[in-house]
Amino acid sequence: MKQYEALSVEIKDGIFWITLNRPEARNALDSTMLQEIDTAFAEAEENDDVKVVIVQGAGSKSFAAGADIKQLKSRKPLEALIPGMQSLYTKIENSKKVTIAAVSGYALGGGCELALACDIRIATKNAKFGLPELNLGIIPGAGGTQRLSRIIGKGRALDMILTGKIIAGEEAERIGLVTYFVSEDELIQKAESVASDILKKGPVAIQLAKFAVHKGYDIDEGTAMWIEKLSQAVVFGTEDKEEGTSAFIEKRKAEFQSK
Ligand code: CAA
Repeated sequence: MKQYEALSVEIKDGIFWITLNRPEARNALDSTMLQEIDTAFAEAEENDDVKVVIVQGAGSKSFAAGADIKQLKSRKPLEALIPGMQSLYTKIENSKKVTIAAVSGYALGGGCELALACDIRIATKNAKFGLPELNLGIIPGAGGTQRLSRIIGKGRALDMILTGKIIAGEEAERIGLVTYFVSEDELIQKAESVASDILKKGPVAIQLAKFAVHKGYDIDEGTAMWIEKLSQAVVFGTEDKEEGTSAFIEKRKAEFQSK
C-alpha cells in the first residue's frame, strides 16, 4: 500500500476506501490531494481484489469544498488546458471499478464534480451540493457543466450553475443528483450495503455494464445498442456467465471467480 499525505486509504472486504483528509481546509482539493487521488485510483485499478471504490471526506463538515482557491488564484489561462482535475475525473468515470461518493457536508465546485464523476452518490441530511464557481468569476471546469446536466437535466443544471445555489441532501435526492439520502450515522453502512450488492456480481459484467451505460449515453442509440451487444458478446464467453446461469438453475448462490 502506498503512503498518502492528504488522504487516508484503506482496503477492506473488496472495497477501496479513499478519505479526503484536509478537514482544516474543508477537504479543499489542492495539488497534493489531486495527485494522491490519481495515485489511489491507480492503486485500486490494479488490485484484482477490489471491485468498489468509496470516496468520502474526513469529518462530517465537508466532503470536499472544491479546488483550492488559494492555488487557483495564481493559475494562468494555459494552465487550464493541461490535464488536471477534469482529466482526473474522466479517468475516475472510466475506471473499471464501481465508484461511490459518500457525501456528508459540503460538496462544492470540484468536490461536487468529483461526486458527479462517481457512479453512485449517497448523501446525508447534512450534505450540501453546489457549483459556486461563478462567484469566483470562473466556471465549473472539472466536468460540472457537462455531467450535472446529464444527471439532473439542463434546466436544473443551468439554475444551479448560474445562481451558484447550494442544495441540501434531501433536495439533491429529489432532483436525482444523488441516489440515496440517509441520516448522518447511516452513511457508512449504506455505502457498504450498496457496495456489498455490487461485490456479489461478476467483475467482467460489472465493468462492461458500467462501460455500456457511460459510453452509450452520449452517442446515437443505434451505435449505443451495438456497444451493448458487443459487451454482451464478451460476457457470454466468460466463466462468470457459466457460473451465474448454472447457479440459478441449481438454486444456489453464484460464486463468481473471475478477477
Ligand atoms: N480552497 C481553499 N481553502 C478553502 C476552501 C477552498 N475551496 N474552502 C475552505 N477553505 C479553507 C478556508 O479558507 C478556511 O481556511 P482558514 O482557516 O485558513 O481561513 C478553512 O478552509 C475553513 O473555511 P471556512 O472558515 O470558510 O469554513 P465554513 O465552515 O464557514 O465554510 C465553506 C465552509 C462553505 C465550504 C466555505 O469555506 C466556502 O465557501 N469555500 C469555498 C467553496 C468554493 O467556492 N468552491 C469552489 C472552488 S473553485 C473550483 O472548485 C473550480 C473547479 O471547477 C474545479
